[in-house]
Amino acid sequence: MSRSAHPAGPRHADVMTEGHYTAPPADLNVLDAKVWARTVSRNDDGVVTVGGIEVTRLAEEFGTPAYFLDESDFRARCRAWADAFGRDADVFYAGKAFLSRAIVRWLKEEGLNLDVCSGGELTCALDAGMPAERIAFHGNNKTVAEIERAVTVGVGRIVLDSFQEIARVAHIAQRLGKRQRVQIRVTVGVEAHTHEFIATAHEDQKFGIALAGGQAAEAVRRALTLDGLELIGIHSHIGSQIFDMAGFEVSARRVVQLLAEVRDEHGIELPEIDLGGGLGIAYTSEDDPREPHEIAKALGDIVTRECEAAGLATPRISVEPGRAIVGPTAFTLYEVGTIKPLDGLRTYVSVDGGMSDNIRTALYDAEYSVALVSRTSDAEPMLVRVVGKHCESGDIVVKDAFLPSDLAPGDLIAVPATGAYCRSMASNYNHALRPPVVAVRDGEARVIVRRETEEDLLRLDVG
Ligand code: LLP
Repeated sequence: MSRSAHPAGPRHADVMTEGHYTAPPADLNVLDAKVWARTVSRNDDGVVTVGGIEVTRLAEEFGTPAYFLDESDFRARCRAWADAFGRDADVFYAGKAFLSRAIVRWLKEEGLNLDVCSGGELTCALDAGMPAERIAFHGNNKTVAEIERAVTVGVGRIVLDSFQEIARVAHIAQRLGKRQRVQIRVTVGVEAHTHEFIATAHEDQKFGIALAGGQAAEAVRRALTLDGLELIGIHSHIGSQIFDMAGFEVSARRVVQLLAEVRDEHGIELPEIDLGGGLGIAYTSEDDPREPHEIAKALGDIVTRECEAAGLATPRISVEPGRAIVGPTAFTLYEVGTIKPLDGLRTYVSVDGGMSDNIRTALYDAEYSVALVSRTSDAEPMLVRVVGKHCESGDIVVKDAFLPSDLAPGDLIAVPATGAYCRSMASNYNHALRPPVVAVRDGEARVIVRRETEEDLLRLDVG
């Protein structure tokens, strides 16, 4: 394989990369609508805008790195999910993808429910006014204090994850004089086609109670005997960033089978099933995610068909998309600091953030795209690796991508589809200050999560 002697690194399709980019796109200035938030476009001056505001202005006002979130896109995605699933189903936004008080208010206004998995997320939800009955509480090891709080405020459901938790929640509810609505999370034994760390329905992992060996049936048996619990249904979440609906179909089928067994054994038809979240989004032009209405139809059809076959009334379905709602709505804006061409390999472009604002590349080998957004360029594409400023060689934001070879320090570049699991997994590694989240809508930008300051860091350091 011949390698280019271009000073900025190898140039074209003659370069084998470790990622999936083997050739640069035809025109680096064109933004692929698939990976960018809906109101993102390039204006006549070649500057990228979101919600009608130039990124250059945003960088001046809010600094970099920063996440910019397209509020109208977020709201439109909430509505699309709610409309697709309709009145006979419930959509719970998975707060772990990204949660803030503004997000909670938007969810509430757009008619969505909220799934939380910690006392902190519950606090945020309640503080921003989400009615407790619209909250589902998750987690494989909820503390007694978290359970007490969830039961006391009256969350709509607690998703039980183990035999101990069945007893624990029942006991707490009884002590508080309540009957808590619960679901039991089962593992259906599906191998989701995604990264091992974000697949959750195979048997050898920490979540849920296995259908295999009759364990889930035993969990139902126990839950039905406990006065503190009102068992409303079965829950299954098979993993995250999944495109193939086959896993969801198997999961739905197995959950319905359990409902049929429960009916046969106890004479009860559990009224609800939750099929979890996990729907994939486009991080690069090669990803082809499904639209909410296709997902709703596929899931609705399979549940209806399986229930008919089993002679069951169709239960109320709920789903818990996180990434699919917030992921595509935000991008991270960085300023280019240093550029280091490694002859015959690639060019390393260092930005002012890194693994502290996006750990996903290091953790899951996630793929991202990147674009020069402060101007256009007709220069040749160069193969780059976008890296951060942390003291670690795994500090990679975008593993393989193309940027124009006239890229220079001070240019702004943006990584799209960073709305999910970037700010929520951000860290203070190397005492980095976690970036702000700025909501942009109709020509207005406002900070919804402010940038951390050095005082914030020192405030926690009380030694
Ligand atoms: N429901 C349950 C019970 C979950 O555990 C999750 C995600 C979701 C819903 C939402 O999944 P989503 O629709 O967002 O894929 N940090 C990883 C993802 C971990 C997902 C954990 N659970 C990442 O950055 O890819």
